Amino acid sequence: MKKTILAANWKMYLNENESIDFINRINQEESSFSNANVILFPSHTCINQVQKNLKSNNIKIGMQDCDIHTSGAYTGSVSINSITTVDYCIVGHSERRLIYNDTNSIIQNKLQTVFNHDVNAILCIGETNEEKDNNQTHSVIDKQLNILPKDLKNNLTIAYEPVWSIGSGNLPSNEYIEEVLSYIKNKLKSLYSDEIAEKVILLYGGSVDENSVNRLLEVKLINGFLIGSASANFEAFKAIAEKIKL
Ligand code: PGA
Repeated sequence: MKKTILAANWKMYLNENESIDFINRINQEESSFSNANVILFPSHTCINQVQKNLKSNNIKIGMQDCDIHTSGAYTGSVSINSITTVDYCIVGHSERRLIYNDTNSIIQNKLQTVFNHDVNAILCIGETNEEKDNNQTHSVIDKQLNILPKDLKNNLTIAYEPVWSIGSGNLPSNEYIEEVLSYIKNKLKSLYSDEIAEKVILLYGGSVDENSVNRLLEVKLINGFLIGSASANFEAFKAIAEKIKL
């Protein structure tokens, strides 16, 4: 059985010094994280220093987003090529969708860029509060998954993150998560095959912390978590990692 994934989305929480401090603590207390597959997503500007300071080869590093293009006149944007050795890239996080207007079509192009560079993609999907209240969760997820390529040849991880749960402390019930994850799995089966659908890794994200992780671990379809604010606090992130049993 694969280890539970702990994907730490540091968003814009940690500056360079704070990121290096975090890594120094991981280096000192690495055994606390040994039951999980940890992937860190620092700010773009901190990735290089994080990579330089990190001692463990087991911990992977990713980008929180990337541009559709790989070079050119795109002021302020970041190419997947500019950071040569990332293992992962998040695509379609709800903050990119809602604050920066990343549409499903833009996200489709970003995903293709990530795949073209043989980087593992984490595609974030999930409904807003309004969509949930209007019983549109399934139709929103359909649209968000319809951007997937016809042939899936690359590694794909899907993070189901109900937007209303992100940063709010409002956790869906395990039954709610299980229902949506099985909907996602069935959709993948219909888009591809049972075999390919089984290979897609499913994460849950939204208000995961050391208090909620135990009960979330009971959801059978969850392969791991995409964690925001609790992942940027070393003690909170360590406490989550220590709850993971092999
Ligand atoms: P949160 O964020 O853990 O702070 O709710 C999750 C995310 O945005 O990926």
